[in-house]
Amino acid sequence: MKDNKPTNEKLNQLEDHMTSNQDEKLTTNQGLKINNNQDSLKAGDRGPTLLEDFILREKITHFDHERIPERVVHARGSGAHGVFKLTKSLAEYTRAGFLSEVGKETPVFVRFSTVAGNRGSTDLARDVRGFAVKFYTDEGNYDLVANNIPVFFIQDAIKFPDLVHAVKPEPHNEIPQAQSAHDTFWDFISLMPESTHMIMWLMSDRSIPRSYRMMEGFGVHSFKLINDEGKAHFVKFHFKPKLGVHSVAWDEAQRISGVDPDFHKRDLWESIENGVFPEWDFGVQLIPEEDEFKYDFDLLDPTKLVPEEEVPVQLVGTLTLNKNPENFFAETEQIAFHPGHIVPGIDFTNDPLLQGRLFSYTDTQLIRLGGPNFHEIPINKSVNVVHNNQRDGFMRQQIPKGKVSYEPNSIGGGCPYQAMMKEGGFVSQEARVSGTKVRERSESFVDHYSQAKLFYNSQSAPEKMHLQNALIFELSKVTIPAIRERMVSQLAFVDKDLASKVAAKVGVDVKELDFPNQSIPADADPSALQSEEREP
Ligand code: HEM
Repeated sequence: MKDNKPTNEKLNQLEDHMTSNQDEKLTTNQGLKINNNQDSLKAGDRGPTLLEDFILREKITHFDHERIPERVVHARGSGAHGVFKLTKSLAEYTRAGFLSEVGKETPVFVRFSTVAGNRGSTDLARDVRGFAVKFYTDEGNYDLVANNIPVFFIQDAIKFPDLVHAVKPEPHNEIPQAQSAHDTFWDFISLMPESTHMIMWLMSDRSIPRSYRMMEGFGVHSFKLINDEGKAHFVKFHFKPKLGVHSVAWDEAQRISGVDPDFHKRDLWESIENGVFPEWDFGVQLIPEEDEFKYDFDLLDPTKLVPEEEVPVQLVGTLTLNKNPENFFAETEQIAFHPGHIVPGIDFTNDPLLQGRLFSYTDTQLIRLGGPNFHEIPINKSVNVVHNNQRDGFMRQQIPKGKVSYEPNSIGGGCPYQAMMKEGGFVSQEARVSGTKVRERSESFVDHYSQAKLFYNSQSAPEKMHLQNALIFELSKVTIPAIRERMVSQLAFVDKDLASKVAAKVGVDVKELDFPNQSIPADADPSALQSEEREP
C-alpha cells in the first residue's frame, strides 16, 4: 500500500486554515469558553427563554444559515486532491510552465459530478459526468472544466438555459425526468438536430460509468496553446484512465442505485483511503493554426471531435488523486471552477459555446458563494499570492496595506501592471477580427449527423444493443406521440436500422415516416423540423 499522506504546496497552504476540535474546550464564535450549550437561558425552571441568550442565538443562527445554493448544474459531486506530473515537455507549443518542464509536479483538486440531478440524487443516473480539474500552478490557477464525453449537446451558449430547463425536473411538479415522463427533454432534443452526436454518446454505455476512476475526461472545446514566439496550435485535452474505460449495464445501474446511490462517491473515497490512487494519462491533440480549415467539420464546433486516427493523442503527463478532502463542504462544495481561469501559454478559441461559458461561471458563483471574494476561500486560493487593486466586498479576507489602490499613481504602492508585462504576464493572442455583426449560425456548423454515424458504427454489437435499448427505454416514457415520431426521424439520419428497431418498440409506425436516404449527408435544415406542428 502507498503512503496515504501526500503533501504539496496547495495542501500546505490549506493546512494553515485547518482546525481540530479534538479535546478542545467549547467556545462561542467569539472565542468565549462556555459551560453549557445544551440548555437555553430561561426565566425560571420552566421558561420562558430569554432573548438575552446569546449562546442559543448564535448556535441557532449559524445553523439556520448552513445551506448555500447547490450548483445550478453539476450539483452532485465528489472531489479529491492530487498531483499532475509532466512526462513530456510541450515547451515547443506553449509557454505554460506546468506543461514545459518534464518532471514538474503541480497540485490539483478534481471534482467529478453528474449534471442533471440535485445534490442528493443517485450516482448511477444515465447522465454526462463532469471531470473538473483545478491545477494550482505557480503562474495562477488553471481550470480544465471537462466532461467524460468529448462533445456537447448544443453549439451556442445561448441555448444552455433551454437545454438545462428541458432536462431538469419539470417546473410544475418538480418530478425528475428519470422517474416519470421524459417529455420535455426529448421534445427539446427532437427539435435540436445538433444534439444528435451527443445523444449517441449519452445513450451509450459511456453515460453510466462503473467508477469515476474508469472514465475519460475531455476538454470538449478546441483551445489554443501559444508558444514563446506567439505561434498557436489548436489543442484538444484528454484524460485517459489507467484502469481503462468501464461502464455498468442499465439494469445493474438501477439495482445499484436502489442499494447504494453513493456508489461512485464511496468508490472514489475508499480507493484513496486504501492507497489505491486513481490515475489518468493526460494527453493532447495538436493542430497547427494554419490547418484550421483542413477538416470536414469546424474546429470551433463543440458537437464535433477530432478523430484520434487523424490526430493522435500525445500523452504528456499523469494525473494522480492521492488525498481525500478533510471537509466536503469547505473543499468539494466551495471549489469554484471556471474555463476562463487560464495561464500564459493557453488561450481560448471563438467556439460560441466556450465564449458563453466564459461569462457563466463567475456569474453563478457570485451568488452561489456569496459575493466577489470567493477566490479567497482556501480551496480557491492560488498558491502564488494575489496582488491587485480590487477592494472590499462581502467577506474580504486579505488585508492589503497602504493607501493606494489605483493605477497609475505617483505616490507609490498599488500594483503597477507595466512591470508585470515586462515580466511576461498573460497576453491574449493577437488575432485579426473582421466581419458583419450577425445573430446566425456559421454554415460550417451544419452537418449534425456524420460524426453521430461514426460513433454509432464504432460500437460493437452488444454496445449497439445497449444503445438501442436505452433509446427504447427513454422514448417509451415519452407521453406525446409526435415527440417520439420526431425523434425516430432524427435517428434515421444516423442509422435506418436503429430508427426502425426503436420505432417498433415505442409505437411509431415507420411507414408513416418519410425516412431520409442515408447516402445523403444528413445536413437537413433544422428549421424545417422546428416548424413542424407541435403537440398542444
Ligand atoms: C458547472 C454553465 C457547458 C462542464 C457549471 C455551472 C454552470 C455551468 C453555471 C455551475 C458552476 C458552479 O456553480 O460553480 C455552463 C454553460 C455551458 C456549459 C453556460 C454552455 C454554454 C459545459 C461544457 C462542459 C461543462 C461544454 C464540459 C466541457 C462543467 C463541469 C461543471 C460545470 C464539469 C462542474 C464543475 C464543478 O465540479 O464544480 N456549468 N456549462 N459545462 N460545467 Fe458547465
